[in-house]
Amino acid sequence: MDEKKTMLSGIKPSGDLTLGSYLGPLRHWPKMIEEYDCYYFMADLHAITVRQNPADLRRRTLEQLAQYIACGLDPEKCTIFVQSHVHQHAELGWVLNCYAMFGELSRMTQFKDKSAKNADNINGGLFTYPSLMAADILLYQPDIVPVGEDQKQHVELARNIVQRFNGVYGDVFKMPEPYIPKVGARIMSLTNPGAKMSKSENGDTGRVTLMDDPEDIMRKFKRAVTDSDTERCVRYDPENKPGVANLMSIYSAVTGRSFEEIEREFDGLGYGKFKPAVGEAVVEMLRPIQEEARRILADRAYLESVYREGAEKASRMAEKTLRKVYKKIGFVAR
Ligand code: TYM
Repeated sequence: MDEKKTMLSGIKPSGDLTLGSYLGPLRHWPKMIEEYDCYYFMADLHAITVRQNPADLRRRTLEQLAQYIACGLDPEKCTIFVQSHVHQHAELGWVLNCYAMFGELSRMTQFKDKSAKNADNINGGLFTYPSLMAADILLYQPDIVPVGEDQKQHVELARNIVQRFNGVYGDVFKMPEPYIPKVGARIMSLTNPGAKMSKSENGDTGRVTLMDDPEDIMRKFKRAVTDSDTERCVRYDPENKPGVANLMSIYSAVTGRSFEEIEREFDGLGYGKFKPAVGEAVVEMLRPIQEEARRILADRAYLESVYREGAEKASRMAEKTLRKVYKKIGFVAR
C-alpha cells in the first residue's frame, strides 16, 4: 500500500523564472520528493490569461522544464508535465467554475491587480483563473500545495470549493493545505520593494532571473534600492527599511543565516559592502543551476521524453478523479 502523501505545485511560463520563483517555491520542491508523491507542472493554460507571444511561450515552457530539472527535480522520482498536455485540467476547470461563486472570484486580489494592469484585456479567463487553479490542485488529491504568499488566497478558494462540492456529493476531493515557506515567501522587486519580484513586471533591473549573467546580477544588486535614512546600517526593519529587509531576506534564504547573524556580519560596514555580498551569494547559488539548465536545454529529445512521460503519468491520476466527479454530478458515462 502506498503510504506516501501527495503534493503538487506549478509555475506559469509567463516570463523567465526569477529569484522570487526560486527562493519562494522552487528550491523547496526537490526536498519533498522523498517524502511525497510529487506533481510539478508548467502552468501554460494560466499564462494565456495575459497575452503571450506564441514563440516566447513555447520557448519559456521548455526552458522552465530544463530549469525545474536543473534545480533538482529528478523526473524519475516525480511527475513533471505541461498543464495543457493533460486535458483533464481544462475539463475539471469548467466543472469547478460552476461551484465557484461570482462574489468569491471578484474578491481575488490577483484578479483586481491584473485587471488594473491590463485594462484593455480583462478577459473571462483572468476572472475564472482560480477555478482552473482549483482543478489543477484537486485532480491530484494532494495533501499539501507549496506556494508563495501571493497564491495563498487561491488555495483558500480551492478549499472553499472542496467544502461546497463535498458537502453536496460526499467525499470526492481531499482538502489541500497551502504550504508557505517561512523565509522567501515574498521576494520583492530590487527597484521597488513595495511590489513583489515578478516574472513579467518591474522592468529589467527590479528582477533577477535564474539565467541572468553574473555581471548582470551584480549590477542589479549594486543598484538595489535600500533607503534614504542617514543611518545606512543593515538592520531588519521591513516597515521603515523595506529594501534592506528584502535584501536581508534574500541573503538569509541563500545562506541560511538568521537576520541577527546578518546584522552582526555587516555591523558598521554599510550598504556598500552588503549589496555586493548579497549579489555574490546569489551568483554562487545560481552558477551550478545555470550550467545544468543549459546542458539539459540543449538535449531536446530528453526534454521531450520527460514531458511525454510526465503527461502520461499525470493523466492517469487526473482521469481517475475526473471520472469520479462526472459520475457524482450525473453525467452519462460514455
Ligand atoms: P506564479 O507563476 O505567479 O508563481 C509561481 C510560484 O512562485 C511564487 N512566487 C513567489 N514567491 C516568492 N517571492 C516572489 N516574488 C514570488 N513570485 C512568485 C508564487 O506564489 C507561486 O507559488 N497560479 C499560480 C500557478 C499555478 C499553481 C497551480 C500553483 C497554477 N495552478 C496549482 C500551485 C497549484 C501562479 O500564477 O504562480
